[in-house]
Amino acid sequence: MATKKIGIIGDGNVGSALARGLKRAGREVRAVGKDKTAIRDAVSWADVVLLAVPFAAIDDVVQEVGNLVEGKTLIDVTNALDAKMSLAVGFTTSGAEELQKKLPRARVVKAFNTQFAQHMDSGRLGDLRLTVFVAGDDPAAKSDVTELAAAIGFEAVDAGPLANARLLEPLGYLNIQLGYVLGLGTQIGLKLIRG
Ligand SMILES: NC(=O)c1ccc[n+]([C@@H]2O[C@H](COP(=O)([O-])OP(=O)(O)OC[C@H]3O[C@@H](n4cnc5c(N)ncnc54)[C@H](OP(=O)(O)O)[C@@H]3O)[C@@H](O)[C@H]2O)c1
Repeated sequence: MATKKIGIIGDGNVGSALARGLKRAGREVRAVGKDKTAIRDAVSWADVVLLAVPFAAIDDVVQEVGNLVEGKTLIDVTNALDAKMSLAVGFTTSGAEELQKKLPRARVVKAFNTQFAQHMDSGRLGDLRLTVFVAGDDPAAKSDVTELAAAIGFEAVDAGPLANARLLEPLGYLNIQLGYVLGLGTQIGLKLIRG
């Protein structure tokens, strides 16, 4: 089976790091910025779409991609932060579930949001493989994401249904707090260990 084509919306820290990691793994990738035509072209071309824009830009992107993402795996890497860099939603819903409501025919999966962009092109911190938690309701879409995360170098762990993005988004926020507010810096990462 041909490998899936990956369209990345957002070519900032996250989009460009994931693009590098996926290209290194031999994947066909197109990462685009704000340009509306480029976004529509990339999403039409791709089998799997990765959303790596600020949370505040999601409605713009939704308006642009509309039915072009129907039936496609849509990976939500955003951290649902408001203008004060606090969690914008939580516990009773999540950014990923709200995205799914806006694009009901896309197969939304929450993943990668709990790691810093600095490690997204390798999936590693030193010798350690970092964990990508994968939450979604569509088993085939989750399997796409698990495969891509592993191809980059991460260990992918099934984190259950999309509603568990309610847990992954605060976990991403904890990572940001540790790194940027509590002084640990970005040379940290989350890893599930098993006994
Ligand atoms: N940085 C991290 O370590 C990290 C880790 C996990 C999750 N995240 C999440 O990942 C997302 C991206 O973070 P980032 O650090 O990569 O941000 P970034 O470096 O600021 O890049 C954001 C990208 O989104 C584009 N963009 C902005 N507004 C847009 C719009 N209305 N329509 C389409 N594209 C738009 C930007 O284009 P322009 O450059 O032209 O403005 C840029 O390409 C955020 O939701 C963040 O919370 C970040």
